[in-house]
Amino acid sequence: MFYGKDLRLRAIEREDIPRFLRWFNDPEVRQFVVMHEPLSRAKEEKWFEEHLSRADEIILAIEVLVEDEWTHIGNIGLHRIDLKNRTAVLGIVIGEKNFWGQGYGREAIRVLLRYAFFELGLNRVELETFEFNTRAIRCYEALGFKKVGVRRRAFFRDGKFHNLILMDLLAEEFDGPTDHKARKNSSTLTPA
Ligand SMILES: CC(C)(COP(=O)(O)OP(=O)(O)OC[C@H]1O[C@@H](n2cnc3c(N)ncnc32)[C@H](O)[C@@H]1OP(=O)(O)O)[C@@H](O)C(=O)NCCC(=O)NCCS
Repeated sequence: MFYGKDLRLRAIEREDIPRFLRWFNDPEVRQFVVMHEPLSRAKEEKWFEEHLSRADEIILAIEVLVEDEWTHIGNIGLHRIDLKNRTAVLGIVIGEKNFWGQGYGREAIRVLLRYAFFELGLNRVELETFEFNTRAIRCYEALGFKKVGVRRRAFFRDGKFHNLILMDLLAEEFDGPTDHKARKNSSTLTPA
């Protein structure tokens, strides 16, 4: 379990699958996710089983405290972890929409980046997002991610092509260890 300010990241469990289905089949959430077809339970169960045996991926549940109960609001992960080149691809979805825009995404990413840079020893984390996903871009930029490229018209949906923005962050640019605000809030990988 990794702890941050007002949230924690835990391993995903088989019992979480119905929530994944609800989130990824919700059009408001799906519009921001690079996926085409509706998701079936069978497909998601297969994906989960395959995930268990993958060494190049870590996917964690984001939980926040709601009236003293840890509540699962989304998932965050590192994909294509490459320990030779020390890179990975970050993905995040807060599926519970009423938790958008409250700083949880930023904090969850910060906690995962601490693990990526200071435990896994990665040197670079990249991600892709739709150009129209201004909330996500703001969130990533606040953590130091830089726009490093555009995959022009790379995704076709609803009769339109969409640009995908490539962003990355190097270990030396991550202010995790010197983030005084975070220290003051005693945000750590273990409970304060
Ligand atoms: C993208 C996501 C992870 C961001 O997490 P979050 O907790 O909502 O974001 P945060 O609150 O940490 O930061 C969002 C920033 O965007 C701003 N923002 C909020 N709503 C916004 C909107 N509709 N448009 C533009 N900016 C917005 C916030 O003010 C904040 O910036 P600020 O701190 O400078 O004021 C989350 O919204 C999400 O999962 N969305 C749906 C799926 C998705 O887009 N996943 C990412 C795919 S690449």
